[in-house]
Parts: sequence; structure tokens; C-alpha cells
Amino acid sequence: MAKITKLDDIVALCKRRGFIFQSSEIYGGLASCYDYGPLGVELKNNVKRAWWKAVVQMRDDVVGLDCSILMHPLVWKASGHADKFADLVCECRKCNTRSRVDHLKDGPDAGPVAEHTSHVSVGAGGWDLSKKVCPACGAVGQFTEPMAFNLMFQTQMGANVEDAMTVFLRPETAQGIFVNFRNVLDTTRVKIPFGIAQIGKSFRNEVTTKAFIFRTREFEQAELEFFCEPGTDEQWFEHWRHERFNWYLRLGIRKENLRFREHSKDELAHYAKACVDIEYRFPFGSGDWQELEGIANRTDYDLRQHQRGMKTINAWIESGKDLSKVTLAPEAEDYQSGPLSYFDDQKRCRYIPYVIEPSAGIDRSTLAFLVDAYDEEEVRGETRNLLRFHPPLAPIKVAVFPLVNREGMPDIARNIYDDLKRYFNCFYDDKGAIGRRYRRQDEAGTPLCVTVDGQTLQDQTVTVRDRDSMEQVRVSTSQLKDYLRDRLEL
Ligand code: GAP
Repeated sequence: MAKITKLDDIVALCKRRGFIFQSSEIYGGLASCYDYGPLGVELKNNVKRAWWKAVVQMRDDVVGLDCSILMHPLVWKASGHADKFADLVCECRKCNTRSRVDHLKDGPDAGPVAEHTSHVSVGAGGWDLSKKVCPACGAVGQFTEPMAFNLMFQTQMGANVEDAMTVFLRPETAQGIFVNFRNVLDTTRVKIPFGIAQIGKSFRNEVTTKAFIFRTREFEQAELEFFCEPGTDEQWFEHWRHERFNWYLRLGIRKENLRFREHSKDELAHYAKACVDIEYRFPFGSGDWQELEGIANRTDYDLRQHQRGMKTINAWIESGKDLSKVTLAPEAEDYQSGPLSYFDDQKRCRYIPYVIEPSAGIDRSTLAFLVDAYDEEEVRGETRNLLRFHPPLAPIKVAVFPLVNREGMPDIARNIYDDLKRYFNCFYDDKGAIGRRYRRQDEAGTPLCVTVDGQTLQDQTVTVRDRDSMEQVRVSTSQLKDYLRDRLEL
């Protein structure tokens, strides 16, 4: 029976084994920023690879893209992020700490509140803060009126004071895809329905960060914008919600830890007609279930908005490149045939496509894979810590050991290691007792260990030991690569 995992156990293991470190740790750390260590970067890369394989490589209707983090400021005016991408915050009158209004908990006299992980829409009123507790000092009902706090990070671009301009670090990767829609149409043979996928960093000046890498200010997203004909959007929404749910299951997440949560109308982001979250039962927070990925029906909102943005350039230059003084140009009456429209040459009609967007967090899913894989079990009176990663996600696929450092065993083991590392990420270890070497690999999540022993010298077979069952089988060295490939599903 799998043990109930605590987040503290995961954080300790991540630090101990070099998966994840606090950023700038030797300077006391930088809040909500994390660095991936030698095992962590392999795990995270494998998560990205698995996403890219499922969403791009295995499909005929999706192409990839890699856009810059800094984009033209008008992108964010058109997308709505400059005006609407904000959290409602209030300030404690006692200690001046700012908190997200929807994250505040009621005092002891009131019932529990549900915590949503997405950002609330600004302008949503009706918050009764009289029973809410300040998470910093414990004062009850001592809050200012809620106010909007924009989550985009700003920076200055350009060295000359006269022409330097304020630009934003992207808060989602999606907009890079929308503004390249025309480029992709003009340079490839894609036809609707088709998708454009991207993995990359996003930045949000989150008011509350929490739970290790769950919500940070710098994070990585894997987003697909799937363009389809209006009227087929609901069918594609269904398609993608199931595709994405099954992706997590195929990579080993236990079904009982995964569920859908439909967004209610008042929770929807400013661009969405419908949205469903895939939630994972994380070992923290109220009620445990937290958003892992969102699948949204963004309609034709973004492409229409960028058509308006393209016509706003002159107003922006006249404003002195000050976004706060710019009003977005009105939508043209013939917007359906605008520059970001699509011509269907079979049906001989032109329209602005609808978009279905599955948007996953790479760091958040890496945390879910870590939590789900973590296990502790008693073996002969000792506790064995292990990460039961699905093989394609495991940072190290195969560890190779000589049983002892004599009788030619190290040379044979080295040769095997040098051969195998051309195909998989391998690790060579000749230090310490064999049992300890196995335990270290269990804790790193390595699915298979290969040991060269006395029998190898006689019959050219090696021991292959399975991480989960600890069972050992003998395999001929000439068959070893194919055997391992098969077992690793690679
Ligand atoms: N383009 C749509 C979009 O960005 P979102 O629900 O705000 O939608 C999508 O973000 C996913 O990105 C989330 O489900 C989550 O996995 C991840 N994510 C969002 N904010 C995050 C943060 N501050 N830290 C880590 N991951 C985050």
C-alpha cells in the first residue's frame, strides 16, 4: 500500500538528491524561485519531451513554435492582460500585508472556504471580508477595500533614456502563438483544424506563492492553441480534455489522484467561453485538489483582439509609447475578413477561427509526477525510499555496477556503461556495498540496475534488477540493449 505523501518529504528528497534547490540559496534564497539540479533537470526535460511527443510529434495536425519572452507592448493591450490580468488584493490595516482576496480564510467562527487557483476577474465585487483572517498577523476583518493588482512584470528596453520603453515579461506563452498565426499559415501547409504548440517560461508577480514549485513567479508552461472552425469548437474541446487527461494517466499518475473541475461562469477568464481544469490531489492546501492544467475555449477572442491591436500602432506612437494612455482601435465591421482570418478553400469561405487551448504547467506537472511516484516501504527492517517514475520520465534510465572492484568486473561494467549511454541516460557507480547502490538508485527513480558479477565472467550474463519489485533476472550481454529498451518502453 502506497504511503500518504507529505510535501515536506518531497521537498527534503528533492534537496537531498539534487532534484530542486531554492534559487540563490547561498544568499538566503529568493522567494518563490527554484533551480533544478542534476536529477531535476533530467526529470523536467523528460516531462517536456513527453508533452512534445504527445502533442506535436505524434500528431499530423500540430506544429511547434518557440517565441521570445519579450513582446511588443501592444500585444498585452490587445490580449487584455494590460487592463485585466490582475488579482484582487486587500491590505491588512494592522500589518500592511497584502493578500489575494480569494485566498483569505474565514476566522474560527465561520465555515471553510474553497480556494481557487486561477486569477479572479477584476471588478468582481461583493466580497465580505469582515470574518477573514490576515495570514500574516491573524487580525480578523481588518482589511482595506479590494483593489486590482496587475501581475505582469515590467522592465525597460533600450539604453537611451529618450527611446527606452516599458516592456513586459510574458505572463503566458499563448500570445506568441496568436501573433504568429499568419506567419505559420503563410509558411507551412497547415489547414484548419490545426494547432500550434509551444513550451517556454512565463512570469507572474503572484501575490501569494506557495507550496514549493506549485505556484512561483517564474515558471514554465506547455501550451497548445488549436485553431478550428466556429461551430466545431465544442467537439474539439471534448477531444482535448480527454487527450490531456489520458496523457497524465499514460505517464503513470494514479487515476484516483486526477479529476476534472468545470469552471463556473463567474470564474471564467476574460477570454474564455468554457474552461475545465484537470486537478491533481496534491498533499497540501484546503481540500488537496489543485489545478494542474486548464483547457479553455478561447473562441475567436485573441485573433480578433490582435486585429484591433494592429490598427492601434499610430495611437501608441502618438501616446509617447505609454500603454496606459492608449485605447485599442475599434473592431472593423468586416473583421471576419481581416488579416488574421482564415480562408477555407474547400468551403470557399473566410472566418476567424475559434481556439481550444490546453495549457499545462511544466513545473506543476513535474511536482505531480514527483508526488505520485514517491513511496516508502519497509524492506527487511529498513525503510526504502523510492520514486516509482514511469520509465520515460525517469532522470536516469539504467545504472551499471561492478559487484566488486576486482577480477576484471570494473572493465566489463565500464564497457557496458559506455555502450548503453549512447542510447539512454545511464549512471556508473562502483562505490560502496551493492545494497546501498541499489537504494541510491531507488531514491533517484532509476527503473533498472545492471550488475556485473562473478557469473558474468563465466557466461557473459549480467543481473538486471527492477526498482519496483526488486526482482532480479539474468540477461545475456549481447541481448542487453534490446532487453532494456523493451523494459523502458523507449
Ligand atoms: N494561457 C492560459 C493560461 O495561462 P492559466 O490557468 O493561468 O492559463 C495555465 O495557466 C497553467 O500554467 C496552470 O494550470 C498551471 O499549471 C500553470 N501556472 C499558472 N500560473 C503558475 C504559477 N504561478 N506557477 C506555476 N505554474 C503556474
